[in-house]
Amino acid sequence: MKGVILAGGKGTRLRPFTKIINKHLLPVGPFPMIYWSIKKLKEAEIKDILILTNKEHLSNFISIFGNGKGLGVNLTYKVQDGPNGIADGVAYAKSFVRDEKFITILGDNIFEDSLVPYIESFKQQKSGGRVLLKEVPNPSRYGIAILNKETNTIQSIIEKPEKTNSPYCVTGVYMYNVQVFDFINAIKPSARGELEITDVNNLFINQNQLQYDILKGWWIDAGTHESLYKANTLVYELIKISKRKGEERE
Ligand code: DAU
Repeated sequence: MKGVILAGGKGTRLRPFTKIINKHLLPVGPFPMIYWSIKKLKEAEIKDILILTNKEHLSNFISIFGNGKGLGVNLTYKVQDGPNGIADGVAYAKSFVRDEKFITILGDNIFEDSLVPYIESFKQQKSGGRVLLKEVPNPSRYGIAILNKETNTIQSIIEKPEKTNSPYCVTGVYMYNVQVFDFINAIKPSARGELEITDVNNLFINQNQLQYDILKGWWIDAGTHESLYKANTLVYELIKISKRKGEERE
């Protein structure tokens, strides 16, 4: 399987820093934010990784990560023409993944859980897509999945609902087979002018082809000042815990 990390977008919620720095290069712990997505893919033995970003910041990514050798991965870069939506970004992966299944991670998402078991479940899946959900206290900020608990399926996904009874946010991990490219071709830009990944996922749902898992550990979208601060706190806490475990073993 190959991996795709989206690192474009506008980053408006992290201004003024994002006027000059790509959001995904801001520090989370001792590394740039996007490092954590690369690490999750590497843990799952996914070493062929495409990073999609914007033209202005491409050279910064190359200066920091190069071809990925230093991290033990093979990085390929592509430039997204503009911040035209997550589904637009996924479309750029077509020639990179060819006919293989693949995983896309939004580069501003940080996960406590290992993604390995979920990726393994997707590998066993015969067709369709798979998403990872997390209960959140503020659903209106995210794509929200309405679940049918009797059939263990997602009924539909609503992007940033004003009101909902469902707490299940669709996090920024999207695992797809190549059918996704037909679905992206079939959707139209939303009211905010973007090709929405939620529209793509709803097309999978209409064909009973979207599976899900619910994350157990913490998850954070580090795209605002407050959540970036929180991401740093959580990551440094994890680093402390793993250092302590290492010392106990010594
Ligand atoms: O974090 C999870 C949420 O991400 C989901 O629950 C929502 O369904 C999904 O729409 C998305 O919402 P956001 O409002 O947080 O999306 P944002 O525009 O902040 O972009 C998310 C990531 O995707 C970010 O790392 C930048 C990247 N991106 C975004 C756009 C619009 C691109 O690479 N290209 C783009 O054109």
